[in-house]
Amino acid sequence: MSGLWITFEGGDGSGKTTQASLLEEWLRASGRTVVRTREPGGTEVGMLVRDIVLHHRGDIAPRAEALLYAADRAHHVATLVRPALARGEVVIQDRYLDSSVAYQGEGRVLDADEIRNLSLWATEGALPDVTVLLDLDPAAARARLDADDKPFDRLEAEKADFHGRVRTAFLALAAAEPDRFLVLDATLPPAELAAAVRERVAGRLA
Ligand code: TMP
Repeated sequence: MSGLWITFEGGDGSGKTTQASLLEEWLRASGRTVVRTREPGGTEVGMLVRDIVLHHRGDIAPRAEALLYAADRAHHVATLVRPALARGEVVIQDRYLDSSVAYQGEGRVLDADEIRNLSLWATEGALPDVTVLLDLDPAAARARLDADDKPFDRLEAEKADFHGRVRTAFLALAAAEPDRFLVLDATLPPAELAAAVRERVAGRLA
């Protein structure tokens, strides 16, 4: 039996973590074994990489940044995601390769196909069954992050036009793979978003 792999994507402040938690609760209540994870930082090695990419003071060359995310991803998929799916479990994950295409591709202006292929090489071609994109205008996202009153990480601190490009890239990725993606308006009430996510996931579990 093979499990189900669900990823959440979207800009910083789009509500991915809330929706991932609501989905996790629902799946556990219905008796599923769930692995909840994230990139970067879903493994011990990944936590070290996360610290570099999010908190290193000073520049990281764009290609080095892309390779660091890909390295985190390679280890995460090989040691955590694939084994869980092989056991028939549901993996709920904050962010995956679509984030690299959006942030390192469009955001850092590297070649989007090269970035995607780098991640596909790193993970031997692993793609999720369902990807939920929580789409939010970067200005609204920024207002949410400001309200949180936490220090910004390296990516969050990027300017508005960076986050605008990231948003456009996510929407283009979703349009290119409509079977994998579910695009939701992140300004909807959380309960309404959760219901839409459940409906898509239930369809895949059936
Ligand atoms: P988060 O865990 O709070 O979402 O933060 C992760 C940050 O890293 C977020 O700003 C998006 C960024 N990121 C990339 O730039 N490329 C990637 O491949 C991934 C997974 C995340």
